[in-house]
Amino acid sequence: MIQGVKKGAALAINQAAVANDPQTFEKMGHIGPKVCLTTANEPGFLGFHAFLQTGTHPLGGRFGAAQVVTADSLEAVIESPHNLRLNPLNLWQYTLWEDAESHERMHYEQYDRIFELCAGCLDMVVDGPWEPVYTIAEANMPPIIGMTDVPRVMGQAFARQQEPPKVRLAMRRLVALGEHHVREGHEQAFLEGAVKTLELLQEHAPGMIGWMILEKQGEAALSTFQLEPPAFWESLQTLGANPPKSRRTNFGEFGKDYTSPPIPIGGPKEYQVHMEWESPDALTFGLALTGVNPKLRRIHDEGVLAHLAKLPPYYRVFAPAMEDMIFFH
Ligand SMILES: [Fe+2]
Repeated sequence: MIQGVKKGAALAINQAAVANDPQTFEKMGHIGPKVCLTTANEPGFLGFHAFLQTGTHPLGGRFGAAQVVTADSLEAVIESPHNLRLNPLNLWQYTLWEDAESHERMHYEQYDRIFELCAGCLDMVVDGPWEPVYTIAEANMPPIIGMTDVPRVMGQAFARQQEPPKVRLAMRRLVALGEHHVREGHEQAFLEGAVKTLELLQEHAPGMIGWMILEKQGEAALSTFQLEPPAFWESLQTLGANPPKSRRTNFGEFGKDYTSPPIPIGGPKEYQVHMEWESPDALTFGLALTGVNPKLRRIHDEGVLAHLAKLPPYYRVFAPAMEDMIFFH
């Protein structure tokens, strides 16, 4: 049975800033599928999204220069990401795993192949890649469908006397991703407050499709070729055909010294609140409800803002560039 995202699964976000030029998109088109095919060798791999940043939420003017979509329209972005005016562009790629260990194991076992493919992309990178790894703490995300699937999905829900799910269309929606740093000891209270806020938004805010709360576990090192010197330099002495022999990072080797993301989180715990919206307007006004709707504001103030180590949460906005999020459990 095809379902939405699974609570407890691991989600890695490979973060890179890339040059916004036609060559970048050409490379993404021919190297991206090979990375996906390689990743699928790991049985614990569940699916992926590649997201390109379109902008940020202005948050009532605090980030007054921000635009949710830095292009003429969302349609222009769907037509070609090159229409985005951000440069460099943040390319954040989500991969979903049964657990954090599957992610580390895949990078260890597919090391040579991934190294060759990654090396083919380095000349478009301005910053990164870095790869924090999260677990899905809470989620309410309908499955991704196409327009032609809508009658079937609705019909099935009626037949089972269930509430029909929100329509979550492949490649046609926006993500608001808010970075929340939470005070020590306040993690549970934050989670409860955030769930309450998100459930209210999902029920009442027009165009709010679904949400998940990601809790940071650490960062991967081998996946971003943070190799223990001198192998680090060897990784830069080739165009990809000669991977360093060593797979050791500064934290040791996967399977011997660690089995989960080895770079510790440090500081206050980080959560990413991931929401999906049907349009730029729905996203802009929907997020603003935590400021302008008295009931939501009280719940969000007491349940979320009061527990933060850093105010305010910063919301980046992304559009899908490629995705396969069909999970067979
Ligand atoms: Fe990865």
